[in-house]
Amino acid sequence: MNKPMTAPINEQTTDFNAWASHMQSRMENVLEANMPLASVSPMRLHEAMRYSTLGSGKRVRALLAYAAGEFCGAELEKVDIPAASVEIIHAFSLVHDDLPCMDDDDLRRGKPTTHKQYGDAMALLVGDALQSLAFQLISQDKLLKSATQKLQMLHLLALASGSRGMAGGQAIDIESIGMLLTRTELEHMHIQKTGALIRAAALLGAYSADVLDTEKVQAIDHFSKAIGLAFQVVDDILDSEADTQTLGKTAGKDKLNNKSTYVTILGLSAAKHLASELHANAIAALSCYGREADLLRHLANFITQRRF
Ligand code: IPE
Ligand code: IPE
Ligand code: MG
Ligand code: MG
Ligand code: MG
Repeated sequence: MNKPMTAPINEQTTDFNAWASHMQSRMENVLEANMPLASVSPMRLHEAMRYSTLGSGKRVRALLAYAAGEFCGAELEKVDIPAASVEIIHAFSLVHDDLPCMDDDDLRRGKPTTHKQYGDAMALLVGDALQSLAFQLISQDKLLKSATQKLQMLHLLALASGSRGMAGGQAIDIESIGMLLTRTELEHMHIQKTGALIRAAALLGAYSADVLDTEKVQAIDHFSKAIGLAFQVVDDILDSEADTQTLGKTAGKDKLNNKSTYVTILGLSAAKHLASELHANAIAALSCYGREADLLRHLANFITQRRF
């Protein structure tokens, strides 16, 4: 990433890919170190928590936290736990999302879903325990010096996960099965169910800096709102276009479950157009900045161009 802007585009992309895979392994290590051991009682719950969180996942939320943290001048180590916390909340949301009473999915990250492997009751408890763990980790993080900084992070993550964020969006999703949502309703649902946690990931990275630059935080806020919505638009597109093996989850599930998505409401081509419009909005949010925002720009490309 430390190449000048004039470096050939494929060279810049290679650097980004190297950065991303380095940070993905870093996140894996942080998660591994902070997840209860499967040898500790209650062993089956701990094993299932590890099964649901470790080993795979694109770690997009962690990458966003790290990139936003670097942009705002946070030390890398200070971003570790806030980034891991949002990945843990995300893993919890996936476990519950896959339950028979929600999307009823058998495959997640290329392996059987948690309830398929451990049963519905255990999957429910995995979600509960992961959610608590995320808040526990921020609250006990020794690298975050001020209590105010921790409180701000806990507040942000709580809002993003709750009834006005992820859980609220999921409630709208479930209640609108079989209905044709308006575009505004659909946007509202997607902003809550997926956008809120993505925004929280980026802001948690920004808040990890010891001194906050309010203009930069505002740029991160605008950037992450646009890219958070783009993320779910692309998820809808991939559900209808990609295959199960590439996705690591069952393709075509939205149609099968009668969900309102950007593909069902707008059609595939308009959904793709919207994804690039949102990508452009995200990039525009960084227009005042130079190379220091390159990681975020690359991440925006990664999110909108991904194949799974
Ligand atoms: C899938 O998220 C669920 C949505 C919010 C659309 P990801 O595509 O980030 O899933 P992983 O973490 O890479 O498995
Ligand atoms: C899930 O949206 C969003 C959350 C888990 C909060 P989807 O239901 O579209 O996610 P996938 O496609 O199953 O990963
Ligand atoms: Mg769902
Ligand atoms: Mg689902
Ligand atoms: Mg989906």
